[in-house]
Amino acid sequence: MAAKIITFGISKGGCSKSTSSGITAYLLSKEAKVLCLDLDGQANLTSFLTGEYDVCNVFENKTILEGILKVDIRPYIIRVRENLDIVPSNDFLATLARKMYEKGLRLDALQKALEPVMNDYDYIIIDTPPSLSEQTILPLSTQSPAGSYAVVMFDGSLFAYYAIPKFLEIIEGAKERYNPKLKTAGILFSLIDTRAKENADMEEAVEEEYPGLKFQTSIKRKAATRRLAINGFEESAELKNALEYYIPFVEELKQRVDEG
Ligand SMILES: Nc1ncnc2c1ncn2[C@@H]1O[C@H](COP(=O)(O)OP(=O)(O)OP(=O)(O)O)[C@@H](O)[C@H]1O
Ligand SMILES: [Mg+2]
Repeated sequence: MAAKIITFGISKGGCSKSTSSGITAYLLSKEAKVLCLDLDGQANLTSFLTGEYDVCNVFENKTILEGILKVDIRPYIIRVRENLDIVPSNDFLATLARKMYEKGLRLDALQKALEPVMNDYDYIIIDTPPSLSEQTILPLSTQSPAGSYAVVMFDGSLFAYYAIPKFLEIIEGAKERYNPKLKTAGILFSLIDTRAKENADMEEAVEEEYPGLKFQTSIKRKAATRRLAINGFEESAELKNALEYYIPFVEELKQRVDEG
């Protein structure tokens, strides 16, 4: 059985794409084989899962950039823990568009690079940058016989609210041109401050404009969740607290992608 591809994105910075994709991958890996791809040169997902921040040196010439350009990601996969692997990124990912152009690679390059491992995993979880560049379009253009999905991140702010229709348009474009089976798994409310008065209005607006897309679970802002980047998953005494909202979210996500 091929892997289900789930891409986390929104063209607005700081909406918890890296945190949410990392925690989702961690939780899925408890029962399934998961490969993460870091498509953001900030390498936050890479650092989050590996604990490594010196990404330019440590992963020099060993990243998703090389995997895409050489059209085979296999040599660049690293093991994070049992059932959880990642292809890291670093700052050099900024050269991706130019190098793809020089090599004559097209938007099916990631698809081709993933083909050798497509049947080795149950899920491929992809983190993207807050821009609508190749780094976002490539994952959305990547097909899998098991399905390809996008999770749209939303932090409850007006800026992000206006980024939602643009991101949904990009999903539609990728679907029409490259990935006919691409689906929007849903809109995930994250970093929600329970005291903010505008939350209910935002929820109502999203429900009304995008019926059925909002995940029932909202991820509330929590210091314990933020501290996961410091403490890691293995040694965190507050792991249960940090994952509180993500556990029901991942159950919902699994249901949505299993229903296809
Ligand atoms: N549920 C949460 N509770 C508290 N802090 C959180 C939560 N989710 C994310 N954060 C923090 O919010 C900040 C932004 O999160 P993150 O880096 O995951 O967003 P992003 O969308 O990936 O950002 P970028 O657009 O720069 O890639 C980080 O400092 C992260 O630790
Ligand atoms: Mg990020």
